[in-house]
Amino acid sequence: MRLSQCHNFHDFRRLARCRLPGPIFDYIDGGADDEVTHRRNTASFEQCDLVPNVLRGVQEVDLSVTVMGQKLALPFYCSPTALQRLFHHRGERAVAAAAARYGTMFGVSSLGTVSLEELRKAHDTPQIYQFYFHRDRGLNRAMMQRAKDAGVEVMMLTVDSITGGNRERDLRTGFSIPFRLTLAGMLQFVIKPQWGIQYVTHERFRLPQLDEHVDMSGGAVSIGRYFSEMLDPSMNWDDVAEMVRSWNGPFCLKGIMSPADARRAVEIGCAGIILSNHGGRQLDGSRAAFDQLAEIVDAVGDRIDVMMDGGIQRGTHILKALSLGAKAVGLGRSYLYPLAAAGQPGVERALCLLRAELERDMKLMGCTSLGQLSRANLRFKSAA
Ligand code: LAC
Repeated sequence: MRLSQCHNFHDFRRLARCRLPGPIFDYIDGGADDEVTHRRNTASFEQCDLVPNVLRGVQEVDLSVTVMGQKLALPFYCSPTALQRLFHHRGERAVAAAAARYGTMFGVSSLGTVSLEELRKAHDTPQIYQFYFHRDRGLNRAMMQRAKDAGVEVMMLTVDSITGGNRERDLRTGFSIPFRLTLAGMLQFVIKPQWGIQYVTHERFRLPQLDEHVDMSGGAVSIGRYFSEMLDPSMNWDDVAEMVRSWNGPFCLKGIMSPADARRAVEIGCAGIILSNHGGRQLDGSRAAFDQLAEIVDAVGDRIDVMMDGGIQRGTHILKALSLGAKAVGLGRSYLYPLAAAGQPGVERALCLLRAELERDMKLMGCTSLGQLSRANLRFKSAA
């Protein structure tokens, strides 16, 4: 299978699966526990039907949007994700370049494998820096200062990962950094030698956002252990309020799901909230962001930018989320499989296809700008 044969999410996923050793594919692909929430994220869009209007003159469609003060050419962006150079040797460099080419925002993870400074210098498009709340408060302050010095526009604190999700696929394969694989996991690397050649012939794998602060040389750092041992489960709203004040710029929280929390995010001065269940990777059984969207937009949508992520695979999914009141949506696996499948050309093709789908869907709905999307376009099956 080749890149030119990839026409949708499923094709990219299939190609990524061919290229990646099993444990790495499963790290991207998997969710927590029984993966119920992971499946629900995409399924929830199917509970909602579109009701188009016709004969409205739709030659030109404008997909641009302003979110958290950032002007984007598209209402979707690449959410921060961890460890990208494991998926393709260019990792974040490829994703940032593709996002810049399409005029959209790109998130750098504190578990990223290319430095936020390098990426900030390479591209002009707005950058989000994602971080977690560590037990070491000095480290939290240092990370924010570093992002400020680099010229990062938006800070994003992930609030749904105060402890590691139960990723049973990773437990089975022994996925961790550096690899401490089970025998079965090791065998999966042996049968994908191409990946191994890429890995050893390119620069050493690093976590440049963290390696000044954390000694990761001593042994395997599993994602679960990072969450459990380094992050601070005592984090509360006062801690976050202090961070928002000290950042003194657009600050958003990723992982808000309840209207009460959305209101508190407004009170402490956040510019945005991202409804998210972390791609179904944390609390299994948690609701899909799309199912929570209307309630939260009604509660705070006039005071804060509401975004969502999880399960977005199609232009129509984006269109439904925007019609309910989201300002923009985040992509995760939707660009990670393309990255793994083909590097920067893969991500560019994915963004291009999604843009073309959304533009086509807007025309078929009778809309020429995102402001024309509204709940009048939607009918929910359960409410019918
Ligand atoms: C994950 C974290 C690192 O979902 O965001 O694996």
